[in-house]
Amino acid sequence: MSETAKVLLDGQECELPVITGTENEKAIDISKLRDKTGYVTLDTGYKNTGATTSAITFLDGEQGILRYRGYPIEQLAEKSNFLEVSYLLLYGELPSASQLTDFTKRITRHTLVHEDVKKFFDGWPSSAHPMGQLCSLICSLSSFYPESLNPNRSQEEVDLSIIRILAKMPTLVSWIYKKSIGHPLIYPNNNLDYVSNFLFMTYGMRTEDFHVDPVIVEAMDKLLILHADHEQNCSTSTVRLVGSSQANPYASVAAGVAALWGPLHGGANQKVIEMLDQIQNDGGNTAKWIEKAKDKNDPFRLMGFGHRVYKNFDPRAKIIKEACDNVLNKLGIHDPILDIAKQLEEVALQDPYFVEKKLYPNVDFYSGIIYRAIGFPTEMFTVLFALGRLPGWLAQWKEMREAGQPIGRPRQIYTGEVKRDYTNIATR
Ligand code: CMC
Repeated sequence: MSETAKVLLDGQECELPVITGTENEKAIDISKLRDKTGYVTLDTGYKNTGATTSAITFLDGEQGILRYRGYPIEQLAEKSNFLEVSYLLLYGELPSASQLTDFTKRITRHTLVHEDVKKFFDGWPSSAHPMGQLCSLICSLSSFYPESLNPNRSQEEVDLSIIRILAKMPTLVSWIYKKSIGHPLIYPNNNLDYVSNFLFMTYGMRTEDFHVDPVIVEAMDKLLILHADHEQNCSTSTVRLVGSSQANPYASVAAGVAALWGPLHGGANQKVIEMLDQIQNDGGNTAKWIEKAKDKNDPFRLMGFGHRVYKNFDPRAKIIKEACDNVLNKLGIHDPILDIAKQLEEVALQDPYFVEKKLYPNVDFYSGIIYRAIGFPTEMFTVLFALGRLPGWLAQWKEMREAGQPIGRPRQIYTGEVKRDYTNIATR
């Protein structure tokens, strides 16, 4: 007999089904609770609420486990590449050689963006934040593909939109960077692989002169894989929620970019470097800043530390920390903020405040040091997170659509005034 949960409300017993996931995660299915009892559940910040079932990513925060479609993140980061991982997330299985060739060809064919997109850059002030630009650019792509507005499109048409977004994203991101430094925009070179092409458009001028260090390509590829999906985080839930109203994929992904921008989510990678710079400029006394992070009356938090679901090491942070050492060594860079980051980590991991609250370095703690070594300005870091997260957003949007999930519409518990009659106070 299948498991159930019993809720006792107003003396009445209500039986609710229990759902068990493939990794034995348990949930009480409350979808009929209000119909049966008149009650809803309240969970501000969704700390204890499963918003969907999903077959894409498995995360066990207590054990520090992360798997895409069953494959451990450590194995994918070491042996796979970003496009193969994107295919895996989107279609559920690793591609055969011919499937990967076909997927790569399709993406390569769509790397150009409409020439009129360049005009958007003329309207923004030079100080415009890259995330604001990215959000607008992605959403505006829907205007160049009006057929994408139709929610009842065929699977092939939907798939073409997914390919287009994946293909154009590196072009848009590199153009945002080029504009920020006042350089001419570079068109894609489709003889290069996805990551090299992105680096070419970002740092290259002419194909003949372009040389990219394989160490940088490998590091970038690894970072993109590690960011590719993370189940129902703030931005991914936003993509699914916006998509559930049958909004087109460009608009849904743009909403994800907006959600990612915040410093508590993807925006933390920029804030980590700003914090490390600040600590260095202040003399590098890490103990002082750890004390500030613990002080409830001080708004300072240790950026890149703590996570809603990881109560153990974030497995991505472990890989990135190692990659960070490798990249800096191979490029012959000594960045003093890496020493500060390591000191902070060492002190925090022994401090009872961080130990008791199970606060560990997260994905954003070391990634920025690699981006900085590659040559990206700090304001670009969250855009690079978005570049990596894109296949995850698209896979989750696709899964939600294919499952025919209903529009997302939470309830609330009203705490405002009860009914009162209008009197004209302003003119009395
Ligand atoms: N520094 C100091 N104290 C912290 C920190 C931190 N970085 N993170 C959490 N705490 C404390 C917090 O004050 C609270 O203490 P208390 O129980 O005494 O009130 C306790 O730990 C639990 O924190 P919370 O804010 O209630 O936990 P949350 O799950 O709502 O927030 C978080 C998670 C990631 C927003 C938070 O840890 C944080 O603000 N970290 C810094 C920002 C950051 O690095 N964000 C990137 C997250 S990883 C990338 C991604 O996928 O988004």
